[in-house]
Amino acid sequence: MQTLERREALPALRGVPLFAGLTPQQLRRVAEVGRVKLFRAGTAIVRLGDPGDSFYVVLDGNALVVRENGRPLKLHAGDFFGELALIENAPRSADVIATDDVTALSIGHTAFRRLLRSEAAFTHAILKAVVARVRNDQRAPRWQLDNLTR
Ligand code: CMP
Repeated sequence: MQTLERREALPALRGVPLFAGLTPQQLRRVAEVGRVKLFRAGTAIVRLGDPGDSFYVVLDGNALVVRENGRPLKLHAGDFFGELALIENAPRSADVIATDDVTALSIGHTAFRRLLRSEAAFTHAILKAVVARVRNDQRAPRWQLDNLTR
């Protein structure tokens, strides 16, 4: 894993939907507290059960969330991961594997919590995405519903 220059982060952050509600000044703050990191294809960026120390936003490349239960989930540029362990103060809930070279913005847990507390637009965007994930996980396959009604 390689850490890239901080000044490279800002232009890449402008296109990230998670940051769409932030003012240019708030976006600069995010770029200041974040680090741009390069993970080679095949690397585990986070591992199930590890303590959570950072939150990540995919800037380039693709990754896979590999859970104990449920199908793997694809992540692309603009997606984020690693929020659950930091919000819950709990171990990582899944592996996240770079399926090709991934450039990601990493934000440490202290800075992440500070952003959650101070930037309502950021917090709202995280909350919306987490709710969408819960909704997606709860979409029961037809056969499960059929079994319940028998
Ligand atoms: P965290 O638990 O910190 O580390 C693994 C990450 O995988 C997790 O945060 C989420 O970002 C992501 N993840 C885990 N489970 C799901 C899910 N059901 N849907 C989408 N993303 C998930």
